[in-house]
Amino acid sequence: MIRPARPEDAPQAAYLMYLSGPSFALTILGGPESHAIGVLRKLFPIPNHLYSHTYAFVAEAKGKVVGLFLGFDRKEWEAARRAMGRELGFRWFKIVRPWHLPRVIPPLLDLARTFEPLSDEDYLIQMLAVLPKVRRRGIATRLIEFAAERARSKGLKRLVLDVLIENEGARRFYERMGFRAVKTVTDPRFCRRFGVRGSIRMAKPLGVGRCRDGAGEAFQGAACLSAGV
Ligand SMILES: CC(C)(COP(=O)(O)OP(=O)(O)OC[C@H]1O[C@@H](n2cnc3c(N)ncnc32)[C@H](O)[C@@H]1OP(=O)(O)O)[C@@H](O)C(=O)NCCC(=O)NCCS
Repeated sequence: MIRPARPEDAPQAAYLMYLSGPSFALTILGGPESHAIGVLRKLFPIPNHLYSHTYAFVAEAKGKVVGLFLGFDRKEWEAARRAMGRELGFRWFKIVRPWHLPRVIPPLLDLARTFEPLSDEDYLIQMLAVLPKVRRRGIATRLIEFAAERARSKGLKRLVLDVLIENEGARRFYERMGFRAVKTVTDPRFCRRFGVRGSIRMAKPLGVGRCRDGAGEAFQGAACLSAGV
């Protein structure tokens, strides 16, 4: 079952958010792992910002949260970004160790600077993760299908996401789901800051149409685009 997340999902959600990008969590929030997860756990119940339950959806199996993603259209993304300052404000002082606070802002600015902008037709998927012990059972596939349905219901035309170059497993998963690379970010400061090789923006067109080659078969937009027909 996939459902909107609730504030009380924070313990499981925080762990999954951490798994979706440990290098980002540790750089922005500070290590060790248990500390970064603890910070995410405090952030998650607060509404409207980038790491909030407001934009999160969870996969549940036998009553337990086993997978998660956060989804945003362009307006939601911009509102969530503004809420990082407005909504969280002074709360940052309680959430992050005070001496680490000056180290939170530069990586967040680097992320914002290198972020490939969204169009009005995009639905952004962030922080997709599934618990290790239940991977390869189709849970992430269901989450992406759910995101696609949500995007379609909003009248949007494309799913987009960012994945690290070195995250080959996730890249293979996204390719299998019909995503294709549209841009690579290898900004040296971004890569140095997060200790990564770079990030790839991947996109998957939504909707049904016909291939131009006249084969006459209904297709999912991504399949024809990627085949260049
Ligand atoms: C990537 C991730 C979300 C996939 O979740 P999942 O529930 O295991 O994925 P699914 O079971 O739906 O996979 C469907 C298919 O995608 C492909 N796939 C999934 N994970 C893969 C991997 N690690 N390597 C290669 N192919 C993979 C396979 O073809 C798989 O089908 P198969 O199991 O029949 O071979 C999961 O591995 C994960 O949480 N990784 C850590 C967090 C992460 O990297 N998130 C992405 C952030 S951008």
